[in-house]
Amino acid sequence: MKILIAFTILICFSSCSKDKSTNLPTSSIPRFNPTIQIIIQTNCISCHDVTSTVPMHDFNSVQLLALSGQLLGSLTDTSGQYLHMPVGGNLPEQKINEIKIWIENDCPN
Ligand code: HEC
Repeated sequence: MKILIAFTILICFSSCSKDKSTNLPTSSIPRFNPTIQIIIQTNCISCHDVTSTVPMHDFNSVQLLALSGQLLGSLTDTSGQYLHMPVGGNLPEQKINEIKIWIENDCPN
């Protein structure tokens, strides 16, 4: 029982702190459809279609990479932990930001 209470409190805390960090009007939170999808289609899908080892052809496949940290890692990480994407360049800062806000807000479809 104690564990259950502790767990409930933990969940409450994590959701509360999340609310604080995302103090944005709902309208400025990008959604997968269309914002994120367009970024992927324009910059990534040529190499990451359904036949790729890292597919990004639909919401579920992109969400999976977002939740694993690979999506943002590949765009911004410079430690070498992730392959840098897109190959041979960088997404514009504004696009990276949209993806970041999308992930921070639980990847709305
Ligand atoms: C020119 C081809 C090409 C383009 C364009 C490209 N990628 Fe990749 N990407 C690859 C290859 C090759 C790999 C290595 C895995 C594999 O063989 O499929 C990879 C791997 C990845 C991984 C896994 C990285 C890791 O270390 O875990 C992610 C995430 C990723 N790409 C995201 C993207 C995103 C987001 C874009 C668009 C902004 C993009 N890629 C554009 C070719 C590409």
